[in-house]
Amino acid sequence: MNLDLHGKNALVCGASRGIGLAAAQELAGLGCNVLLLARDAEALAVARDSLPTGEGQAHRYLATDMGDTDGLEEKLQPELEKQPIQILVNNSGGPAAGPAHLAGNEAFEQAFRQHLVAAQAILRLALPGMRDSGYGRVINIISTSVKQPIKGLGVSNTIRGAVACWAKTLAAELGPEGITVNNVLPGFTATERLDYLFRNRAEKSGASFEQVRAAALAQIPMARFAEPAETACAIAFLASPAAAYINGINLPVDGGRTGCL
Ligand SMILES: NC(=O)c1ccc[n+]([C@@H]2O[C@H](COP(=O)([O-])OP(=O)(O)OC[C@H]3O[C@@H](n4cnc5c(N)ncnc54)[C@H](OP(=O)(O)O)[C@@H]3O)[C@@H](O)[C@H]2O)c1
Repeated sequence: MNLDLHGKNALVCGASRGIGLAAAQELAGLGCNVLLLARDAEALAVARDSLPTGEGQAHRYLATDMGDTDGLEEKLQPELEKQPIQILVNNSGGPAAGPAHLAGNEAFEQAFRQHLVAAQAILRLALPGMRDSGYGRVINIISTSVKQPIKGLGVSNTIRGAVACWAKTLAAELGPEGITVNNVLPGFTATERLDYLFRNRAEKSGASFEQVRAAALAQIPMARFAEPAETACAIAFLASPAAAYINGINLPVDGGRTGCL
């Protein structure tokens, strides 16, 4: 099985911590040169220095806000002109928790910009490089909510659905060029985001953090949360030459939690 990514360049968004950082580490371990993107430059520098770096490999970072489309394009364009990418991992911080009917218009607009418009803007900048090099992988980190909406994550459920439809559409459009577009759907994964969601649920329900955590664990057949590195392995596989014929899928990495096929 060919997992070799030497000579390939990847852009990993939301790469300063959590699933994005783990994905950057896994891709770098397979030989990729990684461009890490997030807002916090200091955290990005630390993340960049944590990546495996073999002979001839070099990693970079770009501090920018995916919610600011103009700023994102302005900063990213010269980076991709300097070094085109073949692998794009679209990932970002999840929208605030809460029911859909209580969310303001701005919450939906902001989430749409940060998740969907940013992904589209990056794709348009990245496509010429993918086409020129004859290799393209687009991997979107979204959520199992595209299969079963998650209670209390109204804005997130809605935006993930939009990204999933965008990806499926692109898979059909770009497949003839050998460019694949897939989604990875993390389940409960041990990151800052999971702590935030449990704290939020505890505050709203009156239960303790430990009770919320135990209730979440009880939903998972594997009886544990995912390590970010486990989700990252799925991302790296989809980025590899071995996954060339996998296109347009939603891949849950959730320990069997999602109750539908
Ligand atoms: N963890 C889970 O259990 C779980 C489950 C299902 C889905 N997901 C989804 O998977 C994705 C990654 O999750 P995670 O747990 O790894 O999240 P995380 O630990 O909160 O990390 C989010 C990453 O995105 C960056 N980011 C946030 N807002 C950004 C913005 N506006 N522009 C650029 N970068 C931004 C953060 O860095 P900066 O703050 O420095 O920008 C950080 O690097 C999220 O969309 C999350 O909702 C997670």
